[in-house]
Amino acid sequence: MHNPSPARACGIDFGTSNSTVGWWRPDAEPLLVLEGDQQTLPSVVFFNVEERRPVYGRLALSEYLEGYEGRLMRSLKSLLGSKLLKSETTVLGSAMPFKDILGLFLNTLKQRAEEQADRSFDEVVLGRPVFFVDDDPQADKEAADTLATAARKIGFKDVSFQYEPIAAAFDYESRIEREERVLIVDIGGGTSDFSLVRLAPERRQIDDRQDDILATSGVHIGGTDFDKQLSLQGVMPLFGYGSRMKSDAPMPTSTHLNLATWHTINAVYAPASLRALQSMRYDIVDPTGIDRLFSLIEQRAGHWLAMQIEQGKIELTEHERYLIDFARIEPGLEATLTRPVFETAIEPLLERIRANVSQLLVSAGLKHEDIDTVFFTGGSSAIPALRQGVATLLPRARHVEGNRFGSIGSGLAIEARKRYG
Ligand SMILES: Nc1ncnc2c1ncn2[C@@H]1O[C@H](COP(=O)(O)OP(=O)(O)OP(=O)(O)O)[C@@H](O)[C@H]1O
Ligand SMILES: [Mg+2]
Repeated sequence: MHNPSPARACGIDFGTSNSTVGWWRPDAEPLLVLEGDQQTLPSVVFFNVEERRPVYGRLALSEYLEGYEGRLMRSLKSLLGSKLLKSETTVLGSAMPFKDILGLFLNTLKQRAEEQADRSFDEVVLGRPVFFVDDDPQADKEAADTLATAARKIGFKDVSFQYEPIAAAFDYESRIEREERVLIVDIGGGTSDFSLVRLAPERRQIDDRQDDILATSGVHIGGTDFDKQLSLQGVMPLFGYGSRMKSDAPMPTSTHLNLATWHTINAVYAPASLRALQSMRYDIVDPTGIDRLFSLIEQRAGHWLAMQIEQGKIELTEHERYLIDFARIEPGLEATLTRPVFETAIEPLLERIRANVSQLLVSAGLKHEDIDTVFFTGGSSAIPALRQGVATLLPRARHVEGNRFGSIGSGLAIEARKRYG
């Protein structure tokens, strides 16, 4: 039998936190190296003012943390389908539409993949969450259209989509030996996506797998939301969140909410936002917290803070507590994040995730004992409370862990080969 040739097209998993590009070749691992020796490129752009150029991925994060002046953009995917997408941000002294920043990032993925593969790609299968936007089909369609338009603009002639949890299913299917009914659980940075699928080694070659996709669902909850809740409950109170005004009303929360949300951090630095805070200062009973907030804003330390919180969240997967040192804000100031605080903070979100899984089973007309395997992927699927929650719903199923950051990209590579040859 002659050796099949490499696929024409690639698959791109543009993630809220991390992106990958998969390219199918015989007997090779599909993910392409995108930065250093890594197969993921963090979905981050940093506009470095001193060097007057954008940088991407880990390099962007490290230049930002080294203290270069500039503008950091994370969680770009969260802007798809939001009103902010139509707005602009100021980078390197001029206004730049978010769509163009999205284009810059996608183009970087394409170029790096082409360099690694030593060929160009004209066709692509883009991964997409089951819903970019919950309960708003119009906004959801706009989000997908925006992503497809951006992909065409950087040179892809043919662009098609596959649901992320279906792509993950195909990755898992490449490794199984007998037929299984599988619940795919993909909890990433921005969304939780699920699919119920029938997988089998002998069904891999079938082009139309519609009959094997028993149900899909998703909800706009992911790691960035966990970061936000941990921030609001574990850290923001130190910075005045919940302070009382002299009128006995609570202090307005918009600055804290913006600061706790990755894609709105830059809004906190806007002069109007700062003026509003300053005018509030003397109406607050105890200004200790708001004064720390001023210091944080003056240092442009919003992303630094969010990174500390995210790091704390990740550490809480393995450990009981994590300490954030706030000496740069105030000598001796620190915050201890603990697992119980984290779990309490995210419980309402976990409840919605569990409800989504239960609903998925109902919509497929299946009972929990009909499911053989739960396949976990996505960075946030590591969270113990989340796994336990899903495990209780499916007590009899076997648990399998995929490549947490690579399953979608690998599955999209398989799909791209099927679609484009
Ligand atoms: N060990 C861990 N414990 C808890 N959370 C983690 C861990 N490792 C990574 N994460 C979180 O996982 C998220 C990133 O996961 P992933 O790369 O799968 O997301 P994504 O594919 O970019 O997002 P999406 O698919 O939702 O668009 C981040 O929020 C990160 O903080
Ligand atoms: Mg993902």
